[in-house]
Amino acid sequence: MIPENTGPAAVIVLAAGAGTRMKSRTPKILHEIGGLSMVGHALRAARSINPQRLAIVVRHERDLVESHVAALDPQAVIVDQDDIPGTGRAVEAALQALHAEQDLAGTVVVTYGDVPLLSGELLTELVATHERDGNAVTVLTAVLDDATGYGRILRGEDGSVTGIREHKDATEAERLIREVNSGIYAFDAAVLREALGKVTTDNAQGEKYLTDVLGLARESGGRVAAVVTADRWQVEGANDRVQLAALGAELNRRTVEAWMRAGVTVVDPATTWIDSSVTLDEDVRLLPNTQLHGATSVARDAVVGPDTTLTDVTVGEGATVIRTHGSGSVIGPRAAVGPFTYLRPGTVLGEKGKIGAFYETKNVTIGRGSKLSHLGYAGDAEIGEDTNIGCGNITANYDGEKKHRTVIGSGVRTGSNTVFVAPVTVGDGAYSGAGAVIRKDVPAGALALSVAAQRNDEGWVPANRPGTRSAELAHAATKDSSSTPASTEEGK
Ligand code: UD1
Ligand code: MG
Repeated sequence: MIPENTGPAAVIVLAAGAGTRMKSRTPKILHEIGGLSMVGHALRAARSINPQRLAIVVRHERDLVESHVAALDPQAVIVDQDDIPGTGRAVEAALQALHAEQDLAGTVVVTYGDVPLLSGELLTELVATHERDGNAVTVLTAVLDDATGYGRILRGEDGSVTGIREHKDATEAERLIREVNSGIYAFDAAVLREALGKVTTDNAQGEKYLTDVLGLARESGGRVAAVVTADRWQVEGANDRVQLAALGAELNRRTVEAWMRAGVTVVDPATTWIDSSVTLDEDVRLLPNTQLHGATSVARDAVVGPDTTLTDVTVGEGATVIRTHGSGSVIGPRAAVGPFTYLRPGTVLGEKGKIGAFYETKNVTIGRGSKLSHLGYAGDAEIGEDTNIGCGNITANYDGEKKHRTVIGSGVRTGSNTVFVAPVTVGDGAYSGAGAVIRKDVPAGALALSVAAQRNDEGWVPANRPGTRSAELAHAATKDSSSTPASTEEGK
């Protein structure tokens, strides 16, 4: 047996339901929390117990769900449910599909695609109890203050589980029961198959109830038991967007807490959002209003935030990232970004480099120690080491049809408001003057100037704007000197 397949014979994830209460064109289980769809969370929990087979039952929006599932878990077997409704029918369809491929014996786990906080640990506990006690069925239950809508757990006088009654089929007395069926179970495959053959649609909803299997299993002499969890979040499903947000907030609370326990300082857990896919080192500091998404990773001693959103960004050791919106970028060790900085995909900032206030970057590699401190745009460019890009510099990379590259060497100093009209190359150690428009390559060590000489038309304001405050002040400032208007030109 290969090591990944040491778990139960199969996990069946039920996901055929319509999810109408989401009021969405997106299938319910594709809605995301913590950066992953609900079904993504369900598949991850299912996979983590290493089942030999994993099946997911679909019907509503089956093509969308199928392609989503195939991308997340290509090994998952997609099973179509027919028009006969009910969780029992869904499981029956999965058993048929799995059994057609290969005999199914041993433990079969059933979970839902819309219960995103269920953990692999709880599933492991369910399976371990089930197998240790030699149960025919083990159901995961929780005790709720308000059990409305759920199937109730029926217990005999000795406390043993005798069955499940759906809310709609329950008597007044049964509705007082607060122990509910989570819909997550471990079954013995043979018992499950046999009992499902006997389940009818003779109930309030006209559905084939999976829950009927418990009573049937017990009647044929099997042991039926429950694992009661005190963690109700793990069995909670999302039916509408209010529940989705509540589950998302709880997932985030757990993620943030886990990172704090792992050595990350989170100044304000309530405004810090971390996807389940993010990785953080010890001694990272996250300041308020920080959102970390996707494949973002932050190395030791880095400080991120406040007010920063990073998606798929790698932050190096000791870097600082303040009030920044970034995606698809790499920030080198001890580099500084922000405040008010927009990093677009392909930005790679070297060690101790800086991208400062009101800078936008895209597809740019910036060498170690180089600084783009204020106000500008750098795109489709390569900048060497220890270069200082002055205030307001722009790479004019787009000619209206194509993008072109700007290559700037090391040790370069550019004057304020330099514009690089790409394609253009600036050699090592070159300088540019303020306002230079660089249209031609600049050789190493050259000073590039492209500004027209400045002309001052003296006395222009009093002559052309008489009676204004400017004219009055100009007059006061010049009354001791010659009042003859003259024209001077710089450099003449
Ligand atoms: C079901 C249980 C109930 C339990 C509750 C927990 C049954 C009969 N009842 O009720 O005891 O307390 O879950 O949330 O099982 N699904 C299919 N095919 C179907 C019907 C449902 O795949 O034909 C899937 C849904 O997509 C969903 C899950 O099964 O993921 C549960 O379906 P839902 O209709 O929400 O079940 P409930 O009636 O709430
Ligand atoms: Mg239902």
